[in-house]
Amino acid sequence: MNPDCAIEVHKLVKRFGDFTAVNEVELEVRHGELFGVLGPNGAGKTTLVRMLTGIVPITSGEAWVAGVDVRRNPGTVREAIGVVSQALTSDMDLTAYENLDIYARFFDMPRGARKPRIEELLHRVGLWERRKSLVRTFSGGMRRRLEIARGLVHKPRVLFLDEPTIGLDPQSRRVIWDLLLDLRKGAELTVSLTTHYLDEAEFLCDRVAIVDQGKIVALGTPQELKSMVPGSDTVELALEGPLPDARMPELQALPGVREVERTNEGIRVRADGGAALLPRIIEALREDHLGVKSAALSRISLEDVFIHFTGRSLREETAPKGGPKFQVPARR
Ligand SMILES: Nc1ncnc2c1ncn2[C@@H]1O[C@H](COP(=O)(O)OP(=O)(O)OP(=O)(O)O)[C@@H](O)[C@H]1O
Ligand SMILES: [Mg+2]
Repeated sequence: MNPDCAIEVHKLVKRFGDFTAVNEVELEVRHGELFGVLGPNGAGKTTLVRMLTGIVPITSGEAWVAGVDVRRNPGTVREAIGVVSQALTSDMDLTAYENLDIYARFFDMPRGARKPRIEELLHRVGLWERRKSLVRTFSGGMRRRLEIARGLVHKPRVLFLDEPTIGLDPQSRRVIWDLLLDLRKGAELTVSLTTHYLDEAEFLCDRVAIVDQGKIVALGTPQELKSMVPGSDTVELALEGPLPDARMPELQALPGVREVERTNEGIRVRADGGAALLPRIIEALREDHLGVKSAALSRISLEDVFIHFTGRSLREETAPKGGPKFQVPARR
């Protein structure tokens, strides 16, 4: 077991009869990381979480979570982790406070410790004013926030969130995102999050594992995943005059360049490392005394990465329905 890891998984397999839902997964999540598992419906995300949280037995392979060997001690691991499951499970006929209190009692927290912890969490998830309201009066986003608080009540070292924003409107999703980023501040909390939303994985996660049909097909930071796709950057330049034909082979020979084409206004270059390439292109153009009117660098999205590794699109099947189009803001 690696002491630097909050979650460590080797050759983890889950079979249901002949069907393999999780297929030889290898993972190492470091302490304090916000780790994403991104994949389409049926990829095996929930099954993976259920194994790591001791809910379903592991078919084969090894898994340590918060230092506990999950295969041998599935009961013990639950004390060290918080779980926010895909289905909403808070009790509709209890108040927000009561829902948290039941959990704290379940974990044998003494009364003196329960009250301040619950109050702190109700403030943090923005439900303090509604602490005495029955959960049946809550919106989906409020319920989800309550369940995140519930997952944290016993101060776990690792928090598992399974599709924390599924079915929520864009504004409520954003509230949950901000909450998750906020929860990590100053806390030694490791978060494992499964999602089929690309923007969520990109905005929140330090590293992302892309899973498809039970297998990890790619793993890295969102930036690293993008750079794994050849020609992942596009540099577009508007020029003050036409580019001489003689200059084209030179541009094509620059390191990382995959393709150079003319546009109405200038040129478009597809390349592996666009940011580093941009000044070199401009320098080459200077030899023709060609001024650059504007330059734009665009990178591919995680959607393109997903298509590259799986041959299929994720977004078409799974984009949230309704509501205004959601823009991914820059991560703070
Ligand atoms: N108890 C079970 N018995 C048989 N098959 C199962 C069982 N649980 C899950 N599966 C199958 O395992 C596969 C992975 O399911 P899982 O729920 O882990 O996917 P997921 O990635 O969480 O999907 P979603 O995005 O829809 O939540 C699916 O094909 C599912 O039908
Ligand atoms: Mg699931």
